[in-house]
Amino acid sequence: MIHTNNEKNRFILETETTAYALSITELGNVAHGYWGKRLNRIEDYPQVGEPARLNQETNYNVLAHEYAGWSQGLYLEPSLKCSFQDHTRDVVLKFAEYQIKENALILTLRDAAFGLAVDLIYRPWENYDLIERKVVLRNESDFSIQLQQVLSARFTLPTCERYQLTQLVGKWGGETQLSQTELSIGKHIWESRRGITSHFANPFFALGRQNPSETHGDVWFGLLAFSGNWKSVVEANIHGQVFVSMGINDFDFSWKLEPHSSFETPRVIAGFSAEGYGRMSRMLHRFQRETILPESTRQSCRPVLYNSWEATEFHVNEPDQCKLAEKAASLGIELFVIDDGWFGARNHDRAGLGDWHVNPEKFPRGLGPLIQKVQSLGMKFGIWVEPEMVNPDSDLFRAHPDWVYHFPKRTATLYRNQLALNVCRPDVQKYIIGFMTKLLSENAIDFVKWDMNRSFSEPGWPEIEPARQQEIWIRHAQSIYEIFKTLRGRFPNVSFESCASGGGRVDLGTFEVSDQVWTSDNTDPYDRLFIQEGFSYPYCARAMMAWVTDSPNFANERRSSLRYRFHSSMMGSLGVGGNLPKWSDDEMNEARQWITAYKQYRHIVANGDLYRLASPRQSPLSAVQYVSPDKKESLLFTFLHSARRTQIVPRIYPRGLQSESLYKIQAIHDTRQLLDLNPNEPLSGAALMARGFRVALTGDFDSALWLVDKAG
Ligand code: DGJ
Repeated sequence: MIHTNNEKNRFILETETTAYALSITELGNVAHGYWGKRLNRIEDYPQVGEPARLNQETNYNVLAHEYAGWSQGLYLEPSLKCSFQDHTRDVVLKFAEYQIKENALILTLRDAAFGLAVDLIYRPWENYDLIERKVVLRNESDFSIQLQQVLSARFTLPTCERYQLTQLVGKWGGETQLSQTELSIGKHIWESRRGITSHFANPFFALGRQNPSETHGDVWFGLLAFSGNWKSVVEANIHGQVFVSMGINDFDFSWKLEPHSSFETPRVIAGFSAEGYGRMSRMLHRFQRETILPESTRQSCRPVLYNSWEATEFHVNEPDQCKLAEKAASLGIELFVIDDGWFGARNHDRAGLGDWHVNPEKFPRGLGPLIQKVQSLGMKFGIWVEPEMVNPDSDLFRAHPDWVYHFPKRTATLYRNQLALNVCRPDVQKYIIGFMTKLLSENAIDFVKWDMNRSFSEPGWPEIEPARQQEIWIRHAQSIYEIFKTLRGRFPNVSFESCASGGGRVDLGTFEVSDQVWTSDNTDPYDRLFIQEGFSYPYCARAMMAWVTDSPNFANERRSSLRYRFHSSMMGSLGVGGNLPKWSDDEMNEARQWITAYKQYRHIVANGDLYRLASPRQSPLSAVQYVSPDKKESLLFTFLHSARRTQIVPRIYPRGLQSESLYKIQAIHDTRQLLDLNPNEPLSGAALMARGFRVALTGDFDSALWLVDKAG
């Protein structure tokens, strides 16, 4: 719901349990008023005016702006900075008008001297308890405006509080690691300057008042839906103010806003949880499952896939892939995906990228026979591509050396022996859509794994006018979204996985165009507990791909049981990536058993509410529980890192069950029992959640999977 007062100078957005209020001040600034629990009466929300004067501060700097133009002595992070036709670098935004349209509040601010209109767009997602924000700039003048910084939103948190800042940091093979620190006074920036979302930081923030837990405490959070250069800034100052700004990164950014044209920022999805981080995650997960992920994915669970990469790397050929497909099918795999190596001269990562025709030595009869084989085994067929990239040693690069980002007098830096194509160029975009259309039309392909294996460097686009050359940081991502949308429109039955050397492109913008994402190249099941825990803070399990691969794992030589590997991977959308011809009959039988169980219960993981019961960061035992939306069934994953004689395995307290209903709990494919519950005696949800129980895990890297379902 959106409310306004009689004077039309106060606006309140209400969702199921939260509210967000802002005011127009006497000077026409838009000031933040309130963000938190929903209050009983509209009159309960504060009306905010211009702040009191502070020595050595401008009022403008101290005001809790909803969107701050760089002007009048703003020394904090500006939301908007631009240069006008006469080189004035000062933006004076004043409230002009508002409208409520399609459940969105649009506040229009204007810089009257230069004909710039700024629409602040707020949309309450009532049933999800979330608020969406974005901005549209409209150049109403006859002159171009050079944009230098355009963020999506600025948020203000309650003053004079202690906060815990939660971020996701990482690296290749170790993405989405949770970082939680006390917020200190200063400016905290995390960002990507790499052209993609990046492995190193993620456009997500959470700020918890005092020290919130999974179940308790106030948490404010936000997620930016963008896959190009982005920036998150948290500013905490000596006055006790805390501001969060999010959006496109201003680093090396410049955008020419032509006369009478507009620019739309990516959106931020933000929210407030009064019940700790757990509720924050569940709010975001449900929102993604029901409104963000492509419609085709919303209806179903993801198929169990097999991927050839770890087994055969670049050495793919028809007989070997057919053999793998037979093995995969015998496990109950539903989708067989051939990874890198099937095209051009791609025998290693030094050549062939960009030449998207089937390698005749590896597949003399084309892909047809392999696809038919896969289909005859009852599986769908998927293929790997990396369309945004090129090896210098490729026919594509030899024909179009100007298609890559470059500065003419500089040597291009290679990453994994490849260069990034300038997808902002219409001819390059057309080429990608063209070859993908051909590939998908000529072959019965059901699934595309879309990879992207380098950050940008020497980001030049010399063929275009200088005022637009720095638009690449935005245009690249926009162009990729357009390509995905075009291909999805042309091939509605094909689903897509987004991958960037593992989890380098995990964000809501990617979620909007992909059915799933590749979480990390690190498939070690224990390392994955940490990666997956971080991922689960903002992102839903249905989109999170997790493969069972060989032991010892290539990433760290750790040995782990097949059971442990399956349990770790069954917490997301399951895949298998092991070298199956080397698996023993016993291993194949066990794998078959887990895949059958996964299919039986995957709806709980894909559609259920996630509860983090114990973190691998804090305890030798980690546990994650998923509860079906009707609360009839729940899956509980438990992992023991290592047993110590002096240490008792901690109790687990399940959550999210119906208090009055009776549940029974049993281990799946396991004879182990709970230590202090009688499996034959159902207990009420209230009792299970209050009493908790201990699981009989022993030794090193032990695990068990439990089904908690309604008795009778
Ligand atoms: C990086 C991906 O993350 C891997 O899964 C694999 O597809 C390789 N690229 C192939 O080159």
